[in-house]
Amino acid sequence: MSRWLDVANVYYLTPGSARALEVRGLPVAVFNIDGEYYAIKDACPTDGGALFGGVLRGDEIICPRHGERYSVKTGARADNPGTEKLETFLVRVSHGLVQIEMEVPEYH
Ligand code: FES
Repeated sequence: MSRWLDVANVYYLTPGSARALEVRGLPVAVFNIDGEYYAIKDACPTDGGALFGGVLRGDEIICPRHGERYSVKTGARADNPGTEKLETFLVRVSHGLVQIEMEVPEYH
């Protein structure tokens, strides 16, 4: 079951800024690029290490370890688009809060 989960207040996620956080035990990085919000699982598909802190150029984040470039919009690798993608989340803004859609277990 998927749910929309709060990850940031728009007031603190201004254009050009980003933040890393943990959501339900998963590392997530959220970006504001020119007023649009994007969210990724903060784990490089190559080794699982954090991407947050890597250089962000346009909508591409550069892995700080081996330099692979990923689109934070689509998750695609810039140089190897057919290979494993970076996991991305749907994002929306509701009542001033940036939210991501995430699969969460259903409790009974
Ligand atoms: S660990 Fe990210 S590209 Fe190698």
